[in-house]
Amino acid sequence: MSKTDSDNKMNKIVSLCKRRGYIYQSSEIYGGLDSCYDYGPLGIELKKNIKEFWWKHMVQLRDDIVGLDASILMHPKIWEASGHVDGFVDPLIDCKTCKGRFRADQLDSTPCPNKPSKMVNQCGGELTDIRQFNLMFKTHMGPLEEGGTVVYLRPETAQGIYVNYQNVLQSSRQKVPFGIAQIGKAFRNEITPRNFIFRTREFEQMEMQFFVKPDADTEWFEYWKEQRIGWYDELGIKKDNLRFHQHGENELAHYAKAAFDVEYLFPFGWKELEGVHNRTDFDLSRHQEHSGKDMKYFDDATRERFVPYIIETSAGCDRTLLTCLADAYEEEELEKDTRTVLRLSPKIAPVKAGIFPLVKRDGMPELARKLTDELKHHMMVFYDEGGAVGRRYRRQDEAGTPYCVTVDSQTLEDQTVTVRERDSMAQERIAADGLLNYLRDRVQ
Ligand code: GAP
Repeated sequence: MSKTDSDNKMNKIVSLCKRRGYIYQSSEIYGGLDSCYDYGPLGIELKKNIKEFWWKHMVQLRDDIVGLDASILMHPKIWEASGHVDGFVDPLIDCKTCKGRFRADQLDSTPCPNKPSKMVNQCGGELTDIRQFNLMFKTHMGPLEEGGTVVYLRPETAQGIYVNYQNVLQSSRQKVPFGIAQIGKAFRNEITPRNFIFRTREFEQMEMQFFVKPDADTEWFEYWKEQRIGWYDELGIKKDNLRFHQHGENELAHYAKAAFDVEYLFPFGWKELEGVHNRTDFDLSRHQEHSGKDMKYFDDATRERFVPYIIETSAGCDRTLLTCLADAYEEEELEKDTRTVLRLSPKIAPVKAGIFPLVKRDGMPELARKLTDELKHHMMVFYDEGGAVGRRYRRQDEAGTPYCVTVDSQTLEDQTVTVRERDSMAQERIAADGLLNYLRDRVQ
């Protein structure tokens, strides 16, 4: 995709997100807060459905993984032990000419703010020396800034899992190999947030840490790679737009022995969607050292005592949501016009069905409202009686609603309704009292 096409597609997605209530710029009435976004009525439903889909596959359907929700603020020593205080840094460079601040390792792909046709390393601006910039947000605990303890907003959810691993072991009767899963906010003071919700300073992660015997790490690493790429397939993401990228020696994070990214072909190119990491015993050993608490596991069956290795799967929730939108967005040429349609998988679509009376008379609105009231106990539905029915279909196509149900004059005679499917636009008549099961079979 050319740069112009890719910008166009992203601009169209961003504008659809605002128009239909998926995502808004944060603090918009004050000019916006850079790289922060708010999820609107449809966005929050989509995000909730993605998280539930992840939780179902990673926790509910498995006997060997349990959930956790650790606090965002944690003891500051955790971040010393994890290596984030010293090592979670990006190289930063300032331009004295344009006053811009850039990542030193991305100068050749960062356009100059003053001369956007040139990259920062070609525009002739006067650059400073490189400084190391820690990405963690700091704040203070307690009422007084000076006397208070410095605490960090967590840059990953993983550490909350490691420091609770013994608690979970003792309370859940799990045995190695087992996993702990968590969904939660993370914060990074990114130097160059960009591409809408792709890289932001506040975001949500869906992480799972799988504890294994040290000599079983490679086998589990391969297992989790396949599981995770398969999950995106089940989410409805096109296979051709997914691939693995193996980290080379110089790309590996400070904790990783091996790492693969699941990458997605975004309009702005192949980019990381999720990381699968072999973190070895790095984290638990460091916490053992820094806290003085024993992090070893005793295997009853083999009488062995060891610090487990950890295979981590770390996905970004917002990035997955952007993936779903980009993958689903389509402008379809029809005979007379073009329609914009979001072909989201029905399993994660924010609203499962639009319910319309064909006209606002003859008892049709009352019947359609009655259907809406019954269905809303089971799924998100949306009642709409405004405008021509064709326009109402198009609004739901753009919103990604997989089904539209119309109550018309025939409904009054034989209690059937028309169901229109979003992708094919095919319509069929079904008995109104079978509607719930019809939809359930297709959207859950
Ligand atoms: N615990 C390991 C870890 O955090 P990571 O590769 O730094 O690994 C994992 O992050 C995932 O979190 C990424 O693949 C991405 O989906 C998401 N992520 C990371 N930084 C992000 C940011 N600034 N904005 C949005 N998502 C981000």
